[in-house]
Amino acid sequence: MADREAFWAEQAERLTWDTKWSRVLDWSGAPFAKWFVGGKLNVAYNCVDRHVEAGHGDQVAIHWVGEPGDTRDITYAQLKDDVSRAANALLSLGVKAHDRVAIQLQMIPEAIVAMLACARIGALHSVVFGGFSPAALRSRVDDAAAKIVITSDGQFRRGKAAPMKANVDQALEGAESVEKVIVVRRTGEDVPMNPERDVWWHDLVDAQSPEHTPEAFDSEHPLFILYTSGTTGRPKGILHTSGGYLTQVAYTHHVVFDHKPGRDVYWCTADIGWVTGHSYIVYGPLANRVTQVVYEGTPNTPHEGRHWEIIQNYKVSIYYTAPTLIRTFMKWGDDIPAKYDLSSLRVLGSVGEPINPEAWIWYREHIGAGKAPVVDTWWQTETGAIMISPLPGVTATKPGSAQTPLPGISAIVVDDTGKEVPHGGGGYLVLDKPWPSMLRGIWGDDERFKETYWSRFADQGYYFAGDGAKYDDDGDIWLLGRVDDVMNVSGHRISTTEVESALVSHPAVAEAAVVGASDPTTGQGIVAFVILRGEAAVQELRDHVAKEIGPIAKPRQIMVVPELPKTRSGKIMRRLLRDVAENRQIGDVTTLADSSVMDLISAKLAEA
Ligand code: WTA
Repeated sequence: MADREAFWAEQAERLTWDTKWSRVLDWSGAPFAKWFVGGKLNVAYNCVDRHVEAGHGDQVAIHWVGEPGDTRDITYAQLKDDVSRAANALLSLGVKAHDRVAIQLQMIPEAIVAMLACARIGALHSVVFGGFSPAALRSRVDDAAAKIVITSDGQFRRGKAAPMKANVDQALEGAESVEKVIVVRRTGEDVPMNPERDVWWHDLVDAQSPEHTPEAFDSEHPLFILYTSGTTGRPKGILHTSGGYLTQVAYTHHVVFDHKPGRDVYWCTADIGWVTGHSYIVYGPLANRVTQVVYEGTPNTPHEGRHWEIIQNYKVSIYYTAPTLIRTFMKWGDDIPAKYDLSSLRVLGSVGEPINPEAWIWYREHIGAGKAPVVDTWWQTETGAIMISPLPGVTATKPGSAQTPLPGISAIVVDDTGKEVPHGGGGYLVLDKPWPSMLRGIWGDDERFKETYWSRFADQGYYFAGDGAKYDDDGDIWLLGRVDDVMNVSGHRISTTEVESALVSHPAVAEAAVVGASDPTTGQGIVAFVILRGEAAVQELRDHVAKEIGPIAKPRQIMVVPELPKTRSGKIMRRLLRDVAENRQIGDVTTLADSSVMDLISAKLAEA
C-alpha cells in the first residue's frame, strides 16, 4: 500500500498544485475515499492556463470539425480567453462554487468551454447526452437541482438540423431549480426565447472580460456529476472530485496512449455526454497539453469515409473509439479506409464493451496497417479513468483481452464467496484497492452507493464492478459483459428496468420484460416481451420508449406474449427470454412457477 501511495504521489506531480497535499490517501471513511488530502488546485488552470504560461499559447488545443464541413482551430491562448469569459458569464448569473449546471450540447467547442468554465469556478457540471429525451433531461435536472442549463438552438445530425432548445423547453416546464438557460447558436433556426429565463451564449459570454483569476479548490472539491444507468429504473448521479480524478485521467491518458504533447494529434470519437468524453476529451488530454480533433457529426455524413478523411487531413496519430463503430466500419467495407492515407496512426484504442477478436484484428489490419498497437481499455463511469489496459510497446497484446490492471491499480477476478479464482477460472471482476479517480458517491444517496458497489463483497471491502470476467492461463483478464440487469447497446449503458418502466408507462401495456440479446453490430440489442391489456401497435410502443428515454433505448424488437416466465417468488427469468431472443433452444424451465409458460410463448411467437 505504501508503494502504491508513493506511486500515485509521483503521478500527482503531473499537475500544478496551489497547495501540496499532506497525505496521499485517507481511506478511514471507506468506501468514501479522500485523495491528496489538504491539496488545493484549480482543474481548469491545469487544463488550460498553465500551458499558456509555459509558452504553448499558440499550440492548437482543438481542431474542431463541424458536420457540414466548417472548421475551427482553437489554440490554448484562445481557449484560456474563452473559458475565462464563460466563467465570468456564469459568475454574472450568480453561479457559485458547489452550484450545479446542466449541459445538454452536441460536440461543439462551447461544450468543452462550458465544462471547463464550471470547473474554473468550482461549480459542478452535469452533462446530459444530447440524445436524451426531455423527460430524461428533466429527471437529471431535478435530481441535481441545477440552477443553469446550457444548450443550443439545434444540432446537425446526418446533414439535417434537429432541435435542441425545443426539447429543453419541454423538459424544463415548471422546473423549479432552473434560473437561466444559456443557448448557443449553432444551426441558426428560429427558437422562441423566454426573456426572463433564456439568454444567448453570444450575447452573454462574448461581452465578458477574458481575464479571470482561477481560485484554488480543495482536492476533494466536487467536479462533476454524470448520470448512468443502474439496475433500477432511476439513473444514478455518479460524483467525481478534483485532485485524484485529474491525476488519474492525466496519468492514464499519458501511458495508455503513449501521448507526446506537441507531437501527437489525438482523436477520441466519444461524445461529452458520456464519461469517455469527460475523461478522454476534456480533462485527461487537456491536462496533458494535447492537440486533438473534435468532430461534431456522424461517421457516415456525408460519406462513409469521413473519419478516415479527418485522420488523413489532420495527421491523427492516436485514435480512440468503440467496438460497435469498428464493427460498423467493417460492415461498410475494407475498401473505404483503404482509399485514405492513415499512415500517421500509431496507437489505436477501444472502449465501451468487450471487443471481439475479429473486430480487434480488423482494426489493427485495416486501420493500423497491421502494426499499430490496439489498446483495449476497461473502465466505467464510476472508475472515472482507465483501469485495465495493455500498454503500447510494453505489453504483448492479445486480441479480445483487456489484459492487466495498469500500474497503480489492482483488479482481481473472484468467485461467489469473494475468493480469487485460479488462472483459467472465471467469476466477477472486483477492484480490491482504492484508486484516485474512484467515484466519491452517488449524488444525494450514500446508502445506494454503499449498497450498489460495496455490499456484494462487504467482508472483503471490494468494489463490485458488475462485470463478469475470467483469467486465461497467463493470468490476463478477459471481460465477459455485465452480470447484472444492465445492457450494453453500442457501448451505452441502459438498464432493463429503465426500459421496462418506460414500456409499462404506456396505457396498453400490462407487463414488460426486457433482455439484452447479442447483436453482431451493437454488441447487445434490446428485446422486449410485453403483455398487452389494450390495443397498441409494436411501432407505437417502440416510439413511446424513445420518447420516454431517448432513441438509444428504442427496443430492436418487441414481442407480444400471453405470459412471462416467472419463478415461484415472482422473479422474471430473463435467461429463458434471452434464449428466445437469441433463437436458441430454451434452457431449463424446472424452476418456473408454471413450466408451460414457455410453450405458450413459443406457440404465440410461431403464429406471428
Ligand atoms: C463495459 C464506459 C469490456 C463494462 C467507459 C463496464 C467494457 C461498462 C470495456 C461501463 C472494455 C467498458 N471491455 N467491457 N474495454 N469498457 N466496458 O460506465 O461492462 O459507460 O462495466 O463507461 O462498459 O460503461 P460506462
